[in-house]
Amino acid sequence: MSKKKKLVVQNVEVTFILNGKKVTKQIRPSLLLIDFIRDELSLAGTKPGCLEGECGACSVLIDGAAVNSCMYLAINIHGKNLTTIEGLSDVNGLDPVQDSMIKHGAVQCGFCSSGMTMSIKSMQIKYKKDKKKPSKEEIKKGLEGNLCRCTGYVKIIEAAEAVINKVK
Ligand code: FES
Ligand code: FES
Repeated sequence: MSKKKKLVVQNVEVTFILNGKKVTKQIRPSLLLIDFIRDELSLAGTKPGCLEGECGACSVLIDGAAVNSCMYLAINIHGKNLTTIEGLSDVNGLDPVQDSMIKHGAVQCGFCSSGMTMSIKSMQIKYKKDKKKPSKEEIKKGLEGNLCRCTGYVKIIEAAEAVINKVK
């Protein structure tokens, strides 16, 4: 009778930039980015919501673009620039997107807020690069992948418009 061979899955070494600092880690190939961020990097600001790519609560920035970390394999972060909500603020204070969210009262329970903030940040980066001011409709479209069960979205869209288009 033939003996079954035990399958050994090797960890993979990845090097990437985490919130401005170079990091090297060994990662299990099947590990999702959200679990890597929360469990292995101990950064709890990225929230697990639907875990199906529908709610946007887990959004992070990869090379400046918003990505659902529940739908992304952690090993694919190799060579990239990962920004979580913890990386937006620094010793000088909050990021302008965070300031705008607070100023416009765009946060209630806060569960969606880190993902929402990262999506707004990615739009701010994109429109700044394109030297373009998006319309309210374009901003709404950009936030389509982020669900909020509390605020009714009005304040969030106001906060996004204010910081992206630099209006009061
Ligand atoms: S938890 Fe990732 S999209 Fe909902
Ligand atoms: S503030 Fe509660 S889900 Fe958005």
